[in-house]
This record gives sequence, C-alpha cells and structure tokens, in this order.
Amino acid sequence: MQEPRSRDADGGYFRTKTVEQSIQDTEEPEHQLRKSLSAFDLMVFGVGVIIGTGIFVLTGAVAKENAGPATALAFVAAGIVCALAALCYAEFASTVPVAGSAYTFSYASIGELPAWIIGWDLVLEFALGTAVVAVGWSGYVRSLMDNAGWHLPDYLSGPDVVKEGVGFDLLAFLLVLLLTVILVVGVKLSARLTALVVGIKVTVVLIVIIAGSFFINGDNYDPFIPPASGQVAGSGLDAPLVQLMFGYEPTTFGWQGIFTAASVVFFAFIGFDVVATTAEETRNPQRDMPRGILGSLLICTVLYVAVSIVVTGMQKYTELSVEAPLADAFKATGHPWYAGAISFGAAVGLTTVCMILLLGQTRVFFAMSRDGLLPRFFSKTHPHFGTPYRPTILLGCIIAVIAGFTSISELATLVNIGTLFAFVVVAIGVIVLRRSRPDLPRAFRTPWVPVLPIVSVCASLWLMINLPAETWVRFGGWMIVGIIVYFLYGQKHSRMNPTSTRR
Ligand code: ALA
Repeated sequence: MQEPRSRDADGGYFRTKTVEQSIQDTEEPEHQLRKSLSAFDLMVFGVGVIIGTGIFVLTGAVAKENAGPATALAFVAAGIVCALAALCYAEFASTVPVAGSAYTFSYASIGELPAWIIGWDLVLEFALGTAVVAVGWSGYVRSLMDNAGWHLPDYLSGPDVVKEGVGFDLLAFLLVLLLTVILVVGVKLSARLTALVVGIKVTVVLIVIIAGSFFINGDNYDPFIPPASGQVAGSGLDAPLVQLMFGYEPTTFGWQGIFTAASVVFFAFIGFDVVATTAEETRNPQRDMPRGILGSLLICTVLYVAVSIVVTGMQKYTELSVEAPLADAFKATGHPWYAGAISFGAAVGLTTVCMILLLGQTRVFFAMSRDGLLPRFFSKTHPHFGTPYRPTILLGCIIAVIAGFTSISELATLVNIGTLFAFVVVAIGVIVLRRSRPDLPRAFRTPWVPVLPIVSVCASLWLMINLPAETWVRFGGWMIVGIIVYFLYGQKHSRMNPTSTRR
C-alpha cells in the first residue's frame, strides 16, 4: 500500500490525506455524523435539490433570448456535461465515502492546496445557490399571496422589486433561517420533510408535461432552432469569455445560442453533486452513492427535456414569460387553475432545493474544519442531534442576509462557474487517484478512464467559457481571497501539518 506523499518536500501544498485516514476521521465519536441515509433517500435528496429555479424560472428566459424551442437541446447539452461529471463523482464518492464532496476527493487525490481551493469554491457554489433559490422561492410565494389579496410592501420584497432605496427580501431571509433550524435538529427529519415536498414538486412537473401536452400548437415549433441573428449576446465584460478569447461573436439563437443557453440552464442540474456530500451519512455508500447520483440526474434530465418541449409548444417562444414561464404558459392557453397549482408546487418545491443546498454547504465547511483548514470549533457535532450545528448556524445566518439583499441574476452565473470548476477538479482527481492509489476498492468505476474524465474536463470548460467574462472576474476575486485565507490560516493549522498541535 502506498504511503501518503512527503509532507515537507513541497511546502505541504500537495500533501494528501490518505483515504483510510479520511474514513478514520469520521469514526472519531466527537466528530461523527449519523449514518441513516439509503439509496432511495439519496435519490429523493438528488431530485429534491436538482429540480428548482432552473426549470421553473430560467427556461422561459433562455427560450425567449437564446434558443427558442431548441431549449430542449440546451438541456440535453447541459445534461451530457453533468452526466460525464456524475460518472466521475460516483467513482470518487464510492471510494472516499466521507463528508465534503469534491473537497474530500481532491484532498485524497491531488493535494491540500487544490483541495482547499475546491472547498472554498464549493462554499461559493452552495451558499450563493441557496440564496438564489431562496429569492426565487420568495417570488413565487409573493405571487400566491397577491392572488389571495395580501401584498407585501415593495421595500420588503427584495432589491429586484423595490424601485428606489434599499429593498430587503423578508421572505427569502426568513426561509433560510427556518431551514437552518430544521438542519440543526437533524438530517433524518430533513429527509422526511424532503420526501414529502419532492413528491409535490414532481407531481407539478408531471402536470405540466401531461396536461400541457394537450395544449400544444405545432406551429409554435416552427422554426425549432431559430436562425442565428447577428445580434451580439453581450459586449465588454458582459460578453461570453469565448468571444473575448477568440474575437468571435456569439449570436443569439442558431447553434451558438443553444450553447449559450446550455451554460445558463446548467443551473437547473446543479445539485446532483450535493448527493455526494452526504456520503458519510449513507448506510452503504459503496453501493448506494452511484445509484443515488446517477439515478437522480437521469430522472431530472428526462423531465427537463419534456417540460421545455411542452412549454415551447404551448406558447410561441417570443411570448414566453421570464418570471413564471410554466404557470404563465397555462394562463396564455386559458387555464388559470393549472397556473395557480403550478405556482403553489413551485413554491413548495423550491423549499427543498434551498434546504439541500444549505445542507451541502454546511457539510463542506464541516469537513474543512475537521481537517484544521478552518477553525476546529466548527467541526464539533451537536451532542444530542449529531449534526454540525455550529457551521450550520453561522452559514445559515450569513446566507439569509445575502438572500435578503441580493438579486438572482447577479449570483446565478457565479454559481454555475463555481460548480463547473469543481467538475473539472473532480474529473482530474479520478485520473490522479487511479494512478496514485490503484489498490483502493472502488464500488463504482468510471468507464474509459482517462478518456471519459478528459472529455468531462473539456465539456465543463466549454460551458465555462460560454459564461460572461464578468463572471470570470468575480470568480477569480473570490478564489484569490480563498488562497490568502489558506496561507494565513489553513496551511499552518492543517492536521496534516507536522508542526500543527491539532492533529
Ligand atoms: N438545480 C437547482 C435549481 O434549478 C439548483 O434551482
């Protein structure tokens, strides 16, 4: 069996934590999470977090502005990128079944500094993802309240609504706080609640597909791929990076429009990686992890393609609503009752998305703290509930404030780039771990290594360069802060540091 690489030779940046050591850490009673989840729970978690703002909100904007009825193809493209990444995630999650997802995987394969970078990146993905979904949820709830004749004042409806002055999204803020309390009380309770809510959400999606298919007008599919228009998708820092890199101008619609759309609707798939963050709480991770991850991704891809085909068939893509496209397509065809039910289901469904993103976030933070890269104070689990209550409370409060004061659009692309970056690191990690630890038992093996992980890296990078240059600048800023924190704190206090007193 191979020894971990030297801790000192390279300043420790590429010291790795052995897989055995990662698993052993989870067995320390004080830092132990309860193992209670089955493959079914994981799939419910997956579907619970994956279907959300992406399909309920972004479909309309993307069909209208980028891809028309071919939005279904954008979902297929984004789904393929995710499936490739999922095959890599599944191997890692079944080999290294401890909390922390891509962070833990990278620590076991590539080294401490890359692991820190990915952990820091995941904090961004999950924290901002939680905030984005909370704000989307709040919009649906306000719309339902308006139907019932209760109107929240604009200044309590968030920055997207208020016309002047500072807007505060009270509902989004309260939702995140409530979910924080639920997570502190325990994952089992959360899983039960999730199962109920996921049932409602999937039912609503099926209603859209089945009922909507009766209201399709075939003329709306003509043209299925609207011809490329000369109009440039953005300018300056708003433009996709690919345009600035190659001096090539992305068009709206046409084939390029489908790729631009794919880089946006990618948000709709975010979450299957969160399933991997609960590996440590899974009863039989070797068997159940791959089933949970791949199963939930497949279900969602099929539903997304069906929903986008139905909705663009119900209403001309140029007329789709960008706020509540699924419900509004039913209104446009003269069926407001369905619209109300769909809005209700969307509001309920977004609750679980928010909760599971928050769960994934606290688990990554917990794992980083347990390794000493963040203060160990955060990795003491609750004596009664067995949950990492300290990071849950701290991060829950911070995210609640972000959700209260920030608009969706500013955050969603940043979430996408962070997630795609994690995919790149995980795919590379699979190749590295196969070489450095060929001996490890792998319940699930990614097929065609190294070809498939390399294709996965290229596919993720392709979607990344289709995102605006501005998003790259913000992402770079966050990562620079992370590297500074590592050198000022993590490197010294790491449990893998031979001079650290915290081992
Ligand atoms: N995939 C999740 C959503 O669409 C994050 O909201």
